[in-house]
Amino acid sequence: MNTTTDAKDYSPGLEGVIAGESALCQVDEGEHGLRYRGYAVSELAERSTFEEVAYLLLFGELPSRKELADFAARLHVEWPLSGPVEAFIGVTPPSAHAMDILRTGVSLLGMTDRDATDEGVSAPLGREGASVGSHDANLRKAVRLIAQIPTIIANAHRLAHAKRHVQPREELTFSENLLYLLTDRHGDEKARLMARVLDVSLILYAEHEFNASTFAARVTASTMTDLHGAITSAIAALKGPLHGGANEAVAKMLLEIKNRDRAERWVRDALASKRRVMGFGHRVLRHGDARSEIIQRHAEALSASCGDRRWYDIAKIVDRIMREEKGLYPNLDFYTAVAYVVMGIPRDLYTPVFVCSRIAGWCAHVIEQQDHNRLIRPRALYTGPEPRDYVTVNERG
Ligand SMILES: CC(C)(COP(=O)(O)OP(=O)(O)OC[C@H]1O[C@@H](n2cnc3c(N)ncnc32)[C@H](O)[C@@H]1OP(=O)(O)O)[C@@H](O)C(=O)NCCC(=O)NCCS
Repeated sequence: MNTTTDAKDYSPGLEGVIAGESALCQVDEGEHGLRYRGYAVSELAERSTFEEVAYLLLFGELPSRKELADFAARLHVEWPLSGPVEAFIGVTPPSAHAMDILRTGVSLLGMTDRDATDEGVSAPLGREGASVGSHDANLRKAVRLIAQIPTIIANAHRLAHAKRHVQPREELTFSENLLYLLTDRHGDEKARLMARVLDVSLILYAEHEFNASTFAARVTASTMTDLHGAITSAIAALKGPLHGGANEAVAKMLLEIKNRDRAERWVRDALASKRRVMGFGHRVLRHGDARSEIIQRHAEALSASCGDRRWYDIAKIVDRIMREEKGLYPNLDFYTAVAYVVMGIPRDLYTPVFVCSRIAGWCAHVIEQQDHNRLIRPRALYTGPEPRDYVTVNERG
């Protein structure tokens, strides 16, 4: 009889534990670097687009020219929201956190999705045998979510700030449209440059194996529930400042520091009072995050082109002191925040922008989990009281 789990198998926070298989992404600090389905992320960031990367993650291969054009066209067609989601946005309090609006909005989209009732009759059921959306229906839902998530974010933000409603433009790419929806910028040289850096950040954010939000999505998906339910779990997990919320927290820090003369003192004070400096450290990448170097280059170039080096200069000082004092390296969120500040993206939308990208990875993981499902159900190391006798309420006094 299995009465207890063995302490020797226990790793707090599951650090270093291999908790499942995935063909989506290889996180390797060594010679292989970070790869999506075998392709080096550094190469994808420089040579491809977010649409190509999302397609790669969902469908397994980079798209042909025609497949890419069809995919982009489908994204464009799928952006409108269902009536109930529009109505929900209309009644959210202006003080609501954008990630909370997104979480509930995605949950509602799940009820109104055209494939909501697809029960996977013709699909390979998971090994656990329960009914779930078919592989193809899940792919269709995934494409819709990639298109609809920016719409939820933009519509809710515009309503809360009494800004005019805008719709994605057919001639713009995904990132150009996202920039347009969030900042009203499009069409000029500066907007094109910003959209390219935004696109690089989306490529870098798209996937990172069993991080907390993806793992949350996979745990949920492993019960063979619906895709939107799994994504709702992931959004809730991403919101926290130890995960996706860090990019927003970095921007808050930069704005608080305000100018480069105050940067060194600010970081030293933070460290002296044992505060965590957001955008540094990583559970897996202890010796630096290659994605950070890529976005740093782009953040620097963008800052120089826009004549706004202030945030980058502050960030460089914070970076230097964190390396010297703590041996900690910036993660992807750190210089991404610099780029987003320069682009003028509203700060409370940084983590939602992360969702615009990571939704591709999450959906690919949900589909992968359900195609080869085994319920995720680990054990706990019991730390409670020794067995004891029950005492009736009268005897307890
Ligand atoms: C990402 C993170 C949660 C990883 O945490 P972890 O693997 O649990 O690392 P630990 O909490 O064990 O940290 C190890 C040591 O480094 C310190 N440390 C880690 N990140 C730190 C940070 N950002 N600022 C200051 N100190 C930090 C811890 O205090 C700890 O020091 P100690 O041993 O003296 O107590 C953590 O680095 C962090 O909180 N970073 C800031 C939030 C962030 O940027 N999140 C985005 C992640 S991609």
